[in-house]
Amino acid sequence: NPVGEFTFVLHGAGGDLAKRKIIPALAQLASVGYFSPGARLIFAQREALSPAQALAEVDAFLARTGNDAARATLPALAPLLSTCSVRLGEATAKAALDAAIAQGPHPVVHYAALPSSRFKDLIACLPEERSAQRLRLVLEKPLGFNARESADIEAAAAAKFNEDQIFRIDHYLGKQAVQNLLALRLGNRIFEPLLTREHVASVQITVAEDLGVEDRAGFYEHAGALRDMVQSHMLQLLAIVAMEPPVSLEANSLRDEKLKVLRSLKVPQVLSTPEIITGQYADGYVKGQPVPGYLNEPGVQAHSCTETYVAFRTEVQTWRWAGVPFLLRTGKRMPRRFAEIVIQFRDVPKPLYEPVGGHWSGNQLVIHLQPDDKLELKLLAKTPGERLRLKPVSLDLDFFNTWRIPVRDAYERLITDILRGRLSLFLRRDEVQTQWEFVDRILSDLKQHGLGPVPYTSGTYGPSAATAMALRTGALWSEDG
Ligand code: BG6
Repeated sequence: NPVGEFTFVLHGAGGDLAKRKIIPALAQLASVGYFSPGARLIFAQREALSPAQALAEVDAFLARTGNDAARATLPALAPLLSTCSVRLGEATAKAALDAAIAQGPHPVVHYAALPSSRFKDLIACLPEERSAQRLRLVLEKPLGFNARESADIEAAAAAKFNEDQIFRIDHYLGKQAVQNLLALRLGNRIFEPLLTREHVASVQITVAEDLGVEDRAGFYEHAGALRDMVQSHMLQLLAIVAMEPPVSLEANSLRDEKLKVLRSLKVPQVLSTPEIITGQYADGYVKGQPVPGYLNEPGVQAHSCTETYVAFRTEVQTWRWAGVPFLLRTGKRMPRRFAEIVIQFRDVPKPLYEPVGGHWSGNQLVIHLQPDDKLELKLLAKTPGERLRLKPVSLDLDFFNTWRIPVRDAYERLITDILRGRLSLFLRRDEVQTQWEFVDRILSDLKQHGLGPVPYTSGTYGPSAATAMALRTGALWSEDG
């Protein structure tokens, strides 16, 4: 069903994120008739461009990045589109914005696809408005660069809007696979009783990327993997895996449960037997191609100490999970792009069969998030023949092959939820704050002890110290994706 009328102001429309993700998602929705004829889309950016020029710029960007599918849908935006030049932080900004929005339908959605250093300038231009039917504000991650900055931005937003008007993005929550994970846990009887300290030996979460820093050094140099990936995506995945079943799927019920997990995380120790390892990619080969190390990337400081990899062990200190190691890792320039969650179950109390290969690999539930969206249950089965020997086999469920419907991009899903006023897939202020406090504490411990990132060869799964760290908990990182 097409969504009713609205005015959607995309701030930072000329930026990388807007061109790469948000505008293609809007164009795709427009091309399938998701927007009613009264809907208005405004690209707000510093430069004064006509709608045709702005679309031509996006088209050139998509051509450069090889996204032909998105190029084909771009013309669908033309009937809705107007543009406006807004110089945030300057005295003219508010009037320029007011003029562009005047007489547009409500709600007005202000989507801040901007560096968070610009969020307060944007909020300063907006009217105080306490109704989500009138105004919605969308904030991209990272929301600030630490807990203090984030709290500052939040205070500015709270002075003008209510919590239910603020949509804090973590695009991982828009991924179909992450919603499948929720459904797996909350829609089925068979897994939930097993997800406890009695049955689970460890939980592993990996988000590996083959890309390097690309042309984002200006941002990444100040961020690093802890702020860029752990603070948001990784901790959200952890919260969804570990939370108690909520009372309902309503936004605040879900967020209450995620928050309890985030508040009960153990901060990894950095000294003696370290529970956290950071790394930085050096020259190497990815998919057979030579790639430069991080220090040789354009825009990176000669002696940069920014981490492009992090692996750590934490615990969810609740009755359900106390003592179970949660191992998380993310890195750039890994051999390939994949994200998965591995739940390793404990061994049977008394093995009666002879294991093939001499050791027990036990049961695993593997939730593949990307590139494939599938579920794998690893079991032990008897090999044919006389001997009573067991070998690992897998039950596989590939969601794409099951439904045969193309998966919608995360941003499309999130934009539709913003327009329909659904908050479940967005973060609440206290979640973001708690995530920042966890990451700030790790960063300050690392800094206090002068611990910088260890180099790792591009095209590998990170420093060997991370393998040793996992082994100390009795786990092996899963490398096969
Ligand atoms: C973004 C990070 O939030 O997520 C990027 O800023 C990262 O550094 C990206 O590459 C990964 O997203 P996805 O959807 O490609 O896994």
